[in-house]
Amino acid sequence: MKLYYIETYGCQMNIADSELVAGILQKEGYVQAGCMDDADVIFLNTCAIREHAEKKIHSRLGVLNKLKQNNPAMVLGILGCMAQHVKDDILENKPYVDFVLGPDTYRRIPQLLRRHKELQTSIVDTRLSRFEVYEDLFPSRREGINAWVSIMRGCDKFCTFCIVPFTRGRERSRPLKSICNEIEKAVDKGYVEITLLGQNVNSYYFGSARFPDLLDAVAKIPGVQRVRFTSPHPKDVDDDMLFVMRDNNNLCKSIHLPLQSGSDHVLKRMSRTYNQNEFLALVTRIKEILPGCSLTTDIIVGFPGETGADFEETLKIMKIVKFDSAFTFKYSSRQGTKAAEFNDQISETEKQVRLEALITLQSQHTLFNNSREIGNSLKVLVEKESKKDSNKWAGRTDTNKWVIFPKGHTRIKEFVDIKITSAHGVSLFGIPELNLESTYAVI
Ligand code: SAH
Ligand code: SF4
Ligand code: F3S
Repeated sequence: MKLYYIETYGCQMNIADSELVAGILQKEGYVQAGCMDDADVIFLNTCAIREHAEKKIHSRLGVLNKLKQNNPAMVLGILGCMAQHVKDDILENKPYVDFVLGPDTYRRIPQLLRRHKELQTSIVDTRLSRFEVYEDLFPSRREGINAWVSIMRGCDKFCTFCIVPFTRGRERSRPLKSICNEIEKAVDKGYVEITLLGQNVNSYYFGSARFPDLLDAVAKIPGVQRVRFTSPHPKDVDDDMLFVMRDNNNLCKSIHLPLQSGSDHVLKRMSRTYNQNEFLALVTRIKEILPGCSLTTDIIVGFPGETGADFEETLKIMKIVKFDSAFTFKYSSRQGTKAAEFNDQISETEKQVRLEALITLQSQHTLFNNSREIGNSLKVLVEKESKKDSNKWAGRTDTNKWVIFPKGHTRIKEFVDIKITSAHGVSLFGIPELNLESTYAVI
């Protein structure tokens, strides 16, 4: 019996890809190892989005090299977004790495493992495909509430700061039918929430089916209680998408809308394809069609040439929109992207100052929005035990906010109405509403 171990870094696309690779290995008779030390095959599924992500992998490889010295038969592979970037370095400086495989090569893993066994040489395959969407492979998912389902791969937007179009290649979508088949199987296995994934999830296009058609089809699959999706690009959000969200109760009213910057000058140099006014108009339209819909975002500070005044524009937009939460990043120069060649890079110290200002403002907005829920009754899906208190559950609202509440008689995977009593940090706190049935039971 051969054991495998996969360690995953980066975004949800990588989580979904690791599940896919696990499915491929299990078909070959491999079994998941309880811990890394026992494994015959170790894969690191890597991320290249910022320098920090790559550094983590390099230090991890140091640890794995030592592990391999004790167990030379162990096979070590690098998968995913760093593959393109690091292949030369690995071949020259890290001979203990047996595989470097890009995100479109996973179907070949069984064959490559056999070849490696025969030849005992390092294998590098970073070819990107225009077609690979792994439509016929079933991922091996961890048990839980939510199933990640990849619906498209790659990105053609080429924002000037971003490495993804280079690491993941051209945009391509998966047949609608194969997506729905996979979701039906996931529902049979007990998953109640589906999250559709893609680098540009809403530029999905297969045959005549666009993203709103897919959303509608997924919402209508029996047993699908909640549908989420990430990450949409603001440019590809249209009324059709918003109407489908409005008309299906199980499509969660929560949209991740990456702003990146509030300054027209910076947005243009980022090639984001929208300006400040267009972004604000889109927010207004979303709120009109989907009142109460939560909005989250991604923001980068310190993009080359970002002046103090540009940064103020970002703060201004944040104050107008009041996002429910935001992922905030310091710009990290990525070799091969257009912005890496700009010669007006911002100092680390300045980036840090701007990042801290952004985080402070966002935490005020998060608390402001969450405090407005106090006194409301919200439908929460019970997902797991609260990390801080074993007598409490943690679950999410339709709008993707975490709520902590006493367990009472409720169970995981149930929907419960929770009366919100307070808001702290990024979470809401509350108590289950007594429904008639339970009142009757108590009497
Ligand atoms: N496809 C998604 C983004 C995926 S990457 C979208 O367009 O919204 C996730 C986030 O990482 C981006 O939204 C961006 O805010 C951040 N990011 C990407 N490249 C970066 C870089 N070079 N430096 C800092 N942050 C970056
Ligand atoms: Fe990167 Fe832009 Fe594509 Fe998002 S849309 S993955 S930020 S290039
Ligand atoms: Fe990272 Fe690749 Fe995702 S670069 S953010 S793992 S698409």
